[in-house]
Amino acid sequence: MTAAHFNKEKGSQLKLFTPGPVHVPERVLRELAKPNDTHRSKPYSEMHQMATEGLQKLLYTKNECLIFTSSATGIMEACVRNLVKEDEKGLFFSIGAFGDRWYEIGETNGKNSKKEGVEWGKPITPEFAQEALNKDKYAVAFIQANETSTGVYNPIEKLAPIIKDSGALLCVDATSSMAGVKIEVDKLDIDVCLASVQKCFAVPPGLAVCSISDAAVEKAKQVKNRGLYFDFIDLYKRHVAKHQTPTTPPIPQIRGLTAQLDYILNIEGLEKRFERHEKLGKQTREWAKNIDLEMFPENGYESNTVSTIKNSLDLDIPKMVSMLLEESYRIVNGYGDLVNKTFRIGHMGEIQIKDLEEMLKVLGDIIKTLK
Ligand SMILES: Cc1ncc(COP(=O)(O)O)c(C=O)c1O
Repeated sequence: MTAAHFNKEKGSQLKLFTPGPVHVPERVLRELAKPNDTHRSKPYSEMHQMATEGLQKLLYTKNECLIFTSSATGIMEACVRNLVKEDEKGLFFSIGAFGDRWYEIGETNGKNSKKEGVEWGKPITPEFAQEALNKDKYAVAFIQANETSTGVYNPIEKLAPIIKDSGALLCVDATSSMAGVKIEVDKLDIDVCLASVQKCFAVPPGLAVCSISDAAVEKAKQVKNRGLYFDFIDLYKRHVAKHQTPTTPPIPQIRGLTAQLDYILNIEGLEKRFERHEKLGKQTREWAKNIDLEMFPENGYESNTVSTIKNSLDLDIPKMVSMLLEESYRIVNGYGDLVNKTFRIGHMGEIQIKDLEEMLKVLGDIIKTLK
């Protein structure tokens, strides 16, 4: 049996360089195995409070932070359902597959939705954003920080003030960057900043988190048909009153998240964590350049958590991925329309520079044999 097969006894033996779910360290796995009290108990509330206060520090915000029993897409849908009224319009900026998904969520929930997109590989520029906002009156704007399909990081620090000046609420999908890249929620006045935990947090999938502004809470109160499971008001009230969730959450995951936040904030430290991700991104880009592979994103907008690399050497990508699997490493093909035109290396969570160097050496040798 190779590491590429299901291993009932030991679990996966692969080293994941994926854009999520990512490698989970042993110390987090041990947290998941600890027994818990119920979700209506004092010990649970204490843990929930520790997790949400940790999130506030991570996001540089005084806004309350909420925990959802879902992946990030659940909160993306919650933003649409809770914040856009029947007679209002939502503006969905898209630079790739996940921007397109958010627009689709708007459409399938029957909201008046407008998509403003750019060619994949490019970011939303301040000029593009301003022009899009000038065309109509939008109640809410939705945008990715890091677009995991194209490996582009939007210039969110420049875009946020432009969007907020228009009077729209701002929802930011930071799924593949939160806990890897600095996002200052209060400084940027972001109304909802969301992510799932199976990416830069290095916790197994099943939980998503967000910060929520007072303005977003007030807005949600005026919106009809918010639904039940992802009702911001219900979630917010339970959280503020009791440090609990309205329905049963995956308590072991929240224990894992709480431990990871403690590690991130108090052991590694935020600045060091962000610097490490910057180095991981830079080192991957240098490696690619040295073997004549081009980056897919426009120069200057490359993500530091996932590298989307153009197949400029015309490699057999599925073969390359499976040869690397034989060496116990997993990377992934391109996403959606970018399959075989690109491949992606995830370098987020707990991956260290040395781990990346080892994997890139093996991948480089495989690429030499495939050229
Ligand atoms: C930028 C972005 N948004 C949203 C999602 C959807 O996340 P989830 O699978 O946690 O729902 C992903 C997943 O890869 C993502 O990378």
